Amino acid sequence: MISSEEIRKKYLDFFKSKGHTVMPSASLIPENDPTVLFTTAGMHPLVPYLLGEKHPGGNRLTNIQKCIRTGDIDEVGDNVHLTFFEMMGNWSLGDYFKQEAIEYSFEFLTSKEWLGLDKNLLAVSVFQGDNDAPFDSEAFEKWKSLGISEKRIAKLPKKNNWWGPAGETGPCGPDTEMFYWTGDPNKVLDEFDDTDPLWVEIWNDVFMEYNKTKEGTYIPLAQKNVDTGMGLERTVAVLNDNCDMYQIDTFKPIIEKIEELSGKKYGENTEDTRAMRIIADHLRAATFILGDERGIIPSNVGQGYVLRRLIRRAVRYGKMIGIKEDHFTSLVARVVIKLFRGVYKELERNEDSIVEELVKEESKFARTLQNGLDEFRKIFNKNGRITGKDAFYLYQSYGFPKEMIKEDIKELNKSITNLVNNEVNKDQKISIEFPEEEFDEEFKKHQELSRTASAGVFKGGLADNSEAVVKYHTATHLMLQAMREILGDHVEQRGSNLTAERLRFDFSHPVKVTPEEIQKIEARVNEIIQKDLPVHFEILSIDEAKKRGATGIFDEKYEALGNNIKVYFVGDYSAEICGGPHVEHTGVLGTFKIQKEEAVSQGVRRIKATLQ
Ligand code: SER
Repeated sequence: MISSEEIRKKYLDFFKSKGHTVMPSASLIPENDPTVLFTTAGMHPLVPYLLGEKHPGGNRLTNIQKCIRTGDIDEVGDNVHLTFFEMMGNWSLGDYFKQEAIEYSFEFLTSKEWLGLDKNLLAVSVFQGDNDAPFDSEAFEKWKSLGISEKRIAKLPKKNNWWGPAGETGPCGPDTEMFYWTGDPNKVLDEFDDTDPLWVEIWNDVFMEYNKTKEGTYIPLAQKNVDTGMGLERTVAVLNDNCDMYQIDTFKPIIEKIEELSGKKYGENTEDTRAMRIIADHLRAATFILGDERGIIPSNVGQGYVLRRLIRRAVRYGKMIGIKEDHFTSLVARVVIKLFRGVYKELERNEDSIVEELVKEESKFARTLQNGLDEFRKIFNKNGRITGKDAFYLYQSYGFPKEMIKEDIKELNKSITNLVNNEVNKDQKISIEFPEEEFDEEFKKHQELSRTASAGVFKGGLADNSEAVVKYHTATHLMLQAMREILGDHVEQRGSNLTAERLRFDFSHPVKVTPEEIQKIEARVNEIIQKDLPVHFEILSIDEAKKRGATGIFDEKYEALGNNIKVYFVGDYSAEICGGPHVEHTGVLGTFKIQKEEAVSQGVRRIKATLQ
């Protein structure tokens, strides 16, 4: 079997040979970008550079990026969709464009020295053009010149052949996608049909020529970039004679563990197989989120909520296929960690906390189910039925977040029905009807309320590079330095999130920050703002960065970049490893005010602050 490790290495070696700098994977949790919850593609951490910031690694980059996409969560269970996956990517920041990008892709795919895929089983698609941008004739002609017949080049609309922005605004452009025929090679038709599932998309070259603005217009970018992404799992499956993605080396041991725990056999029955795939996918994703260098734990908001959903969904499917073991999620996580620890060192480093959080979350979920069941019983005994309103408020008050979607609640309803049948009504099976219409009504009412409440949260963001966000970014640096002076050197960044309206910053600190300390921090930040210190960056080696007192976590990510670390300096006040962008002088920041200080988890506090 061709291994993932072999393909990772080939990909990086190939692009290294074409002058690309190899970068480590960035965190799964985007920094300073409120427009998305997770890193969904390798381009995501590169947004400032795609918009023109100088990258310390130069203008040709490559890496293997850990990605999470939750948009496809309902499709997980088939053979091509995953929530967590590894994406191999190469980038040109204003260097080469369509010609070379397509040449590189073609060479890597078909050359015997690299993947050696059969050219006759390849097809591609290009952007057909619309009011925002013209037909991509350059990509079309290039593929033809490489020997791809016209019949195998589909011209498709924006829905298919346009990528980005990752959030509402930001860099984007037409793309060209590459597909490989996964059916019987003798049955491949001359004409490419992109709706035939036997054609599996494996690579996407995006030509980032535009910046989408808040107003929805597409402005040509001064710097034209290439952003490509190739799904590792799909590629490995294709190379192993189109085997099922869940049978490749980074999945098989996980599936085997689930077989052992459930006593079921993978591939024997469609329902069980789907459940096993969902469990394997979700627990791989959960392990990576928990093990991320910017640690996230299950909660009812943001990333923590997605994490909670993944774990609880895996638990439900686990019960469905007969897993009895308490805390089985942690047993599966150990297998995931073992599989990936050589590549993603943070998993091994965080093994204990990953396991601990999974055990906690499974116990919490079991309690929630039990409480829900008791409550259900009471209401059912009293009224003889459960109304949509009952269901809605009941589920919500038992630890299920407001954003919870109906699918979750329906599934929970099934679990509770099972419990009722097993524990109460052993002889006569009943079914608790899910009051769908009533529930929808409640849900709609509720959604309208919460939409109003959360309006603004997703506005702006680094992706659109709005001035306000950049100001908050610099203010965050000043605040971190002030906290290290006033609270102590143990203060380190644990998370940062910026909008055009506020900064939010998570940091390590064992106790509540007192009102006096808050005042001192505010005063210090305002003092530095008034000094109107200049802001600049320098590219330094790790040793120089350390010597000059730069804050930041010096982990293997930076080691891999060697002598190329970007450090932002605010006068002689603060030095911090950071990608930027920042204001040029602190004087433009206005008045800094801390609005809220609270706990996030043990040892981690959160501050929200504004500039006026
Ligand atoms: N950003 C593009 C994608 O995710 C290429 O990496 O498909």
